[in-house]
Formats: sequence, structure tokens, C-alpha cells
Amino acid sequence: MAETDVDLVILGGGSGGYACALRAAELGMSVVLIDKAELGGTCLHRGCIPTKALLHAGEVADLARESEQFGVQASLHGVDAAGVRKYQEGVVSRLYKGLQGLVKGRGIQFVTGEGRLVSPAAVQVGDTTYTGKHVVLATGSAARTLPGLEVDGDRVLFSDHALKLDRVPASVIVLGGGVIGVEFASIWKSFGSDVTIVEALPHLVPLEDESSCKLLERAFRRRGITFKLGARFAGVEHTDQGVRVSLEDGETLEAELLLVAVGRGPVSADLGYEEVGVAVDRGFVKVDAYCQTNVPTISAVGDLIATPQLAHVGFGEGILVAERLAGLPVVPIDYAGVPRVTYSEPEVASVGLTEAQAVEKYGAEQVKTLTLDLAANGKSQILKTAGAVKLVQEKDGPVVGVHMVGSRVGELLAEAQLIYNWEALPSEVAQLIHAHPTQSEAVGEAHLALAGKPLHMHS
Ligand code: NAI
Repeated sequence: MAETDVDLVILGGGSGGYACALRAAELGMSVVLIDKAELGGTCLHRGCIPTKALLHAGEVADLARESEQFGVQASLHGVDAAGVRKYQEGVVSRLYKGLQGLVKGRGIQFVTGEGRLVSPAAVQVGDTTYTGKHVVLATGSAARTLPGLEVDGDRVLFSDHALKLDRVPASVIVLGGGVIGVEFASIWKSFGSDVTIVEALPHLVPLEDESSCKLLERAFRRRGITFKLGARFAGVEHTDQGVRVSLEDGETLEAELLLVAVGRGPVSADLGYEEVGVAVDRGFVKVDAYCQTNVPTISAVGDLIATPQLAHVGFGEGILVAERLAGLPVVPIDYAGVPRVTYSEPEVASVGLTEAQAVEKYGAEQVKTLTLDLAANGKSQILKTAGAVKLVQEKDGPVVGVHMVGSRVGELLAEAQLIYNWEALPSEVAQLIHAHPTQSEAVGEAHLALAGKPLHMHS
């Protein structure tokens, strides 16, 4: 049995694992990075990147369909699923090549194969054991389903299947109004499908500030996306044409396809974790604030641990672990300060606390909010997008939450996250001049208003 000794063995080559590998190599460590599939993981091959390409294709379709509104006479002849897929795969493949080049360039040994943790310092792949001074677990997550709901990949799909679909479906039921459900609903509606979302909780994207949920729901209603809130799934059966979904209240819905988007769970079973003594809770590997498990030589990052399931959280945790292992000073991540975007049309973007969370933390008397309607923002009018920027402030203190809805508002988070993470006062942001006409002005104007000197907003 071959043996390879290095500083760091990383199991899982997705966002968390490869970020850790790149930073560790940069800091002079020898690294083996193991993955059973392609380098880049869910984000690059089956998640963030391909879905955002689909959303952009949807935006192009919407623009063609609605071009008359801008005085341009274009028309939409249809959406060619094969052409969209080619575009999407082109984007993924260019990024994949770039990433492979980076990993190779930093001298990281990438191993393709199923790895298994066999000791506090070793991962086995086939006949080879890779031993490291440290091991990082980064095996990610997989789509979950509900008891009794079989996902066949034909009529009942996970997002992985939806990405590979060879046609635009006539109609789709989306089970789950979270991030994945809302993004696919948006894509399919743009492509011309009839879409119905079924969400058990009272709102779409229920983890967002309630005002953002309501704005998204209003926009989806305008777009003709149907949604059933507070509706629980009871069962599904196949019909001649597709599927019939029944809800607990007795209502039935029919469509060509059902997308199951009820959350993703950690991939930690049968990988040797528990045998080696790694503490696991409901499948998530347990870690401290520095991503270290109860076994001192083993760390874990990304969707495998119970932190927000976002690629950029994986990047941050991977870098933190690499720096800690290299002996650099590190500070725990403030997860509330991580930006969140749902890339539907319109986008929903936020950082920091929702109003409800701020009220819970500081008390209702100590929380002030301000909402700026995008109707007051020139660039948003030019784009014909509706929405708002809402600020949540600790009274007489810093801004503790920024919540935005509207086309392209995800790009505004770059500033919003600095405001939150640097604990900026509204008066400090109000002093900064924002370029005109941009959507970022809406962030500036909201702070002007919160600082008591509104410009384009009625006081
Ligand atoms: P999610 O947890 O965001 O949403 C699942 C939704 O399904 C919830 O709203 C839940 O109430 C609903 N649900 C659960 N059981 C149900 C039932 N029986 N009937 C009706 N509704 C039910 O999970 P999702 O959307 O699958 O995404 C998985 C993870 O991937 C999330 O953590 C998300 O943050 C991440 N992700 C992030 C993206 C982004 O940052 N843009 C894009 C895609 C995924």
C-alpha cells in the first residue's frame, strides 16, 4: 500500500476545500486535495455558476420579450435549451480550466477518487493512504428530499437534474420557496414556463427580512409566478402528462415537472468520520469558532458544518483554517456579516440582522429602520425595476442590517457589507458621495435620510 506524507490532506475539492488548499500552498504547506469528482465541486459544476448563467439567459429572454417598453423592436422567437446549455457549459468550462491551472500552479497534488478518513491524520483512496500533519474535511452537501418523495430525475427533479434538462418545460411545480426554489422559478418563468411554488412557511425566502419577502412576492405576482404559502406537500403521483402534487389541505396541482428544493444536507455518512472519533450532529461535523473538530488534527469547512451553506462562506472558512494551521493570527467569522443574495429577478440581497433579529437583540425601543423605495432612484427607473433599500439601525448607533430587493441589487452588497462590518454610523455613510446615476446611490440616499438629511426622499 503506497503512502504519501504531506502537511495537509483535504478531503473534498469544492469551494471550502480548494480555497483551503490554495491558501495553504501559498503559505508554504505541501497539500493533497482529494475529490471523487471534478475540482470545483457543487458551486462550479452544479450550483452557483451554472444557475447564474441560466438566470442571465433568462434576463436576456425577458429583455427581448419586453424590448418594446424601451422603444426597441426586438422579439423573442423562443429559448433553445441546447443553446442555453452550451453557453452555460462554456462558462463553467473556462472557470474550471482556470481553477485547474491555479491548483497546479501552486504545486497542489489533486487526487481523483473516493476518499475515506482512516485515522486522525490519514485519508485512504483505493490502495493509497495520504497522511498529513493535519486533515481538513470538506465533503459538502447534497440535495435532500422528504420522506416518501422519490426523486427520479425524470419528472421529479433536484436542481442537479434541472440544470441538465434538454427542454423548456411547459409547466413546473417548485417544492420549496427558499433560495434554490425561487431562483429556478425565476429562470423557468423567464424561459416561458408556467410556474407554481409551494412553500410551507408564510413567505418566500422566509429567512430574509419580512419586508424583502413581501417585495419579492409582489414582483413575482406581477411576473405571473404563482405561489402557495403556508402550503405543505402531501404526495405526488405520475400522470400521462407529468405529475400531480397533492397538498395537505386537499388541493391538487398538475404540471410537467416537480422540482424538489427543500434544502440540502451534509455529506458525512460512510466516510469514516465517526469511526475516527469526529463528533457529528445530525450529519453536520461539529466544529469550534475556528473550524476545528473535537479531534485536534482534524478541521472541517463548508456545507459539511452547520454554518450558512454559501460558497463564499466555504472560501472564508477554508482560508481561516489554512492560516490557523500556518500559525497566523485568525479571528472567528461573524456569520451575520456574510452577504446573502438570491439571484432571482428581482434579486434579494442582505447583510446583517433583519428587523426582527435586531428587535430581539436590542429591544424594540432601540431599533430604528428606514426604507428607501427604488422609485426615487434614477438608475432603477431607467432599468424599470421596483424594490427598496431598507436599513436597520441600532438607535443612535451603527447600521446593523441592510436589506435590498430589485434588479442587480446583489452588486450593492459590496458597500453594504463594509457598512455593516465596519459598524458605520448613518452620518458617516451620508458623507460619502455616490456616483450618479447608479443604483448604489440608493444606498447613499437611504443613509442620508437615516442621518436626518434626505435628498431625493420626502422627509
Ligand atoms: P432552503 O433551506 O433555502 O429552502 C427550502 C425551503 O423549502 C424552505 O423555505 C422550507 O420552508 C421549504 N420546505 C421544506 N419542507 C417543505 C414542505 N414539506 N412543503 C413545502 N415547503 C417545504 O433550501 P434550498 O433552497 O434547497 O437551498 C439549499 C441551500 O443552498 C441553502 O442553504 C441556500 O442558501 C444554498 N443556496 C444558495 C444560493 C445563493 O446564495 N444564491 C443559491 C442556491 C442555493
